[in-house]
Amino acid sequence: MHRFTPVLEILRRHRPALYLGLLCILVTQAAYMTIPRLIQVAVDSLKVVPLDPDLVPRTALLVLGIAAVRAVSQYWMRWLIVGVSRKMESELRSRVFEHLSRLHFGWFDTARTGDVLSRLTADIEAVRMPVGPGIMYLVNTAVAVPAALAVMWSYSPRLTLLVLVPLAATAVFTKVFSPLVHRASVAMQEGQADLASRAQESFAGVRVVKSYAREEAEVAAFRAQGEDYSRRVLAFVKSRILMGPAFFLLEGAGMLLILWVGGGMVGRGEMTEGEFLAFNIYNLMLLWPMIALGWVVSLFQRGAASMDRINEVLDARPDVADAPGALPLHRPRGEVEVRNLDFSFGKGPPALRGISFRIPAGRTLAVIGPTGSGKSTLLSLLPRLYRVPDGTVFLDGADVNSIRLADLRRAVAVVPQETFLFSASIRENVGWGFEEGPPPGAAERAAEASRISVDVERFPGRFDTLLGERGVNLSGGQKQRVAIARALAMDAPVLVLDDCLSSVDAGTEEEILLNLREATRHRTTLLVSHRIAAVRHADEILFLEGGMIVERGTHEELLARGGRYADLARLQRLQGEIEAAS
Ligand SMILES: Nc1ncnc2c1ncn2[C@@H]1O[C@H](COP(=O)(O)OP(=O)(O)OP(=O)(O)O)[C@@H](O)[C@H]1O
Ligand SMILES: [Mg+2]
Repeated sequence: MHRFTPVLEILRRHRPALYLGLLCILVTQAAYMTIPRLIQVAVDSLKVVPLDPDLVPRTALLVLGIAAVRAVSQYWMRWLIVGVSRKMESELRSRVFEHLSRLHFGWFDTARTGDVLSRLTADIEAVRMPVGPGIMYLVNTAVAVPAALAVMWSYSPRLTLLVLVPLAATAVFTKVFSPLVHRASVAMQEGQADLASRAQESFAGVRVVKSYAREEAEVAAFRAQGEDYSRRVLAFVKSRILMGPAFFLLEGAGMLLILWVGGGMVGRGEMTEGEFLAFNIYNLMLLWPMIALGWVVSLFQRGAASMDRINEVLDARPDVADAPGALPLHRPRGEVEVRNLDFSFGKGPPALRGISFRIPAGRTLAVIGPTGSGKSTLLSLLPRLYRVPDGTVFLDGADVNSIRLADLRRAVAVVPQETFLFSASIRENVGWGFEEGPPPGAAERAAEASRISVDVERFPGRFDTLLGERGVNLSGGQKQRVAIARALAMDAPVLVLDDCLSSVDAGTEEEILLNLREATRHRTTLLVSHRIAAVRHADEILFLEGGMIVERGTHEELLARGGRYADLARLQRLQGEIEAAS
């Protein structure tokens, strides 16, 4: 596959406009090429006695008419070709975005947001340039140069051959220079992505930056990165601006040759004054297309560098996708089973080892254990956020790998450990899982069950209060409850709660979870918490440590066993007593 294949695929759909645009280039150039010829005829006719009194006005009118034709066709040429390039840009950007949104979770674990953003913006713009202005000037040059040379040849083959010397030098020069421009342009695009990542991270982490009083250091780091980028840009600019003056120099040398040799020819009567004048005008007309050629080459170089970065995204294959013949899920009951599951992230050490359990539909399983023991990893495998080994995780008896991904994810509503809310209203955030908005009353019921409705009553716009940049900011616990409401509103048969009440106090967590039990009586629930009080009501509790289940049973069974769970329970009871006493 050629690197520009994605672009060509899009251009193919816009063929009519593109062809029409190319036709306009031909008309524009044809009109342009006739003007020196007209001037030649006029100049040579000036010597004819008696002088035709209409000659000058007639020529002037003709030139004017041709200029008008050229203006109109030039307008359409730009409009059509630049228009196609803009449409290509927009379609390519949507395609990259669509592909990004299909990529698996793991891809984003290692991607830098700023870098991804710069691929979506600056790189796509850099790919547009060769398509729009690039094609336009390239075709222009391809038409203008041979046409002008042909007319010049008809005046004097010898003089034309002389013109070819600097032209050939220009071509060689371009060939030598373009790899330099290409390298400089790759370095520049990378520098831009680094700069964007730096700024993005600094703002995303603004709380940390401020609370550690690291503003100065951030500013210094940004400045250093900015200077590095600026150096790369200057290197690119240097490689490019060297081309322009070099062309002018070659052209000047060419002109000198023509004046010298051509002047002699006119003196000897081998060429008329009019022809010599026209020849010089044609020669000047060659200059711009040749300079444009150098510029176009650099546009293609830059576009190629950016296209490679875009292709890196387009070539990334989603690690998690529908298997061939994946089955739809009809009215899932919500029975979950895990059989002898081992899992590692990439080539890392195993994060889960030999995990097995079964949750009958509608029951609750809780997972507790020290930090880093693999609780979140376990929960993320049920909706297949990462690649699940075959034959290990089942929903209603079917291997999750055989179920259509969209159906599976609709059947499993997840409240992740790290809350993320969109800059939208609370209502929109709660109804996020529905493409066309939640069914009437569903968002309100979910808000009631997650106990966020009490807080919502106090906000200026109630349920329609905007969050984030343009509205109110919620406390950690409030955010978590909006996130719970979002999952509840989905009315999915399986509910996954990953330590989603860590920001509320222990008493409130237990109370909300008990309240949730009412709302989710018919749902299978997988619950992770660090608190005994939150997990004690579960039908079964797993104690995870180092990716393995070290204890399992009901709250009473585990207490009676006197192991890790009982230790934790004792510790937390003591902590509670100390807090109550103080
Ligand atoms: N995306 C990831 N890529 C690589 N390793 C990961 C990734 N996510 C987690 N891990 C590793 O897997 C192990 C289990 O992490 P996990 O997040 O499941 O722990 P946890 O039990 O949820 O902890 P906590 O109680 O702190 O939330 C850890 O050693 C962690 O470093
Ligand atoms: Mg976790």
